Amino acid sequence: MKILAIETSCDETAVAVVEATGDDSSATFEVLGNVLLSQIELHREYGGVYPTLAKREHAKNLIPVTRAALTEASMITSNKINLDANVQEKIKELLHREPDMSDAFIEFIQGIEIPDIDVIAVTHGPGLAPALWVGVNFAQALALAWNKPLVPINHMEGHIVSSLLQDGVIEKVELPLLALLISGGHTELVLMKEWLSYELIGQTRDDAVGEAFDKVARMIDLPYPGGPEISKLAELVRKEGGKEVFSFPRPMLHSKDCDFSFAGLKTSVLYTLKDIENVTEEDKKNIAHSFENAVTEVLVKKTLQAIEDHGVQTLVLGGGVSANHHIRRVFEETITNKHSGVSLFLPEPKLTTDNAIMIGIAGFYRALRKEFADEISADSNLSVH
Ligand code: KG4
Ligand code: ZN
Repeated sequence: MKILAIETSCDETAVAVVEATGDDSSATFEVLGNVLLSQIELHREYGGVYPTLAKREHAKNLIPVTRAALTEASMITSNKINLDANVQEKIKELLHREPDMSDAFIEFIQGIEIPDIDVIAVTHGPGLAPALWVGVNFAQALALAWNKPLVPINHMEGHIVSSLLQDGVIEKVELPLLALLISGGHTELVLMKEWLSYELIGQTRDDAVGEAFDKVARMIDLPYPGGPEISKLAELVRKEGGKEVFSFPRPMLHSKDCDFSFAGLKTSVLYTLKDIENVTEEDKKNIAHSFENAVTEVLVKKTLQAIEDHGVQTLVLGGGVSANHHIRRVFEETITNKHSGVSLFLPEPKLTTDNAIMIGIAGFYRALRKEFADEISADSNLSVH
């Protein structure tokens, strides 16, 4: 099955062509084309993602990015195709909020043969509504123009299943599986007792962990996105054998549930900074180090608790923050030392942050189940189920 996958939930315009073979018990994925255009530089001056700008950029870039991904997959053959007037009308209707895109879209479709894909997969949530809508409308227009089936994909499922990929293969895993999803928008513990069926067992009550990283980074004048920057500084302190200088709180560490809270930790960093008269580079490094330690301790403790409460056999980390070296290392050590019966899956670095390959992988499983839809709505608060 060849899947054209589209991801526009946040600030990356991403399109991939993924070829999948196999089934639920063992599936092989080959990436035929993968193009990702990050808007990080544009959003940097706002210190975070600016939704209207994200939407406009997606609308501008989706066609070139799709063309590039199809070209990489050797699926572009120039030709003159005549789109039925009826279909053109429907496409214009679908893309009426993006009038510039609408004309370029029809020109694009009329200039190439229908590519050799079997299905189109698109993220329909969760994420920024305006950004999601552009991708969803674009995917619907493609499905209509090429007469291909369309599957709506939950972004979080994309993070979970893509983290299971090892050397291009996803083998059957032992259930229950627990996923710790940590990104700029989410901090969730998701339990999978049956394959591809989810139960949300814990989540943040305020800031997402990536958001806390980004906000703390901003307090110490590090550029957006702050997660990787904090991580770099914290690693420097560890290399030098530095101690934890600031004792930041570990919010909800001892609460019996699996929920998280990071707002208090963030505020504690803010007050600590206020108390320092001249914040030096050394202070910033120590803040980053102490903050990262506090976050990691909470993530690990809550995850271990959920593992014990639910007899978890497989642990998966996913989302942008799972790129963090310290978090990966501590989870590896803890699982090896304390829960050696649990299989731990960490996403390949290139699959940690948002991408379309993960949407293609989830798209395969959903297409196997024939979960096709003619009309898709974006749902910014879509949860896993
Ligand atoms: O999954 P993602 O690309 O987008 C969302 O769906 O939010 O995650 C982005 C988040 C940002 O908050 C970024 O600061 C954080 O992931 N991040 C990191 C690291 N790399 C990215 N946080 C901590 N350490 C990292 N190495
Ligand atoms: Zn994400």
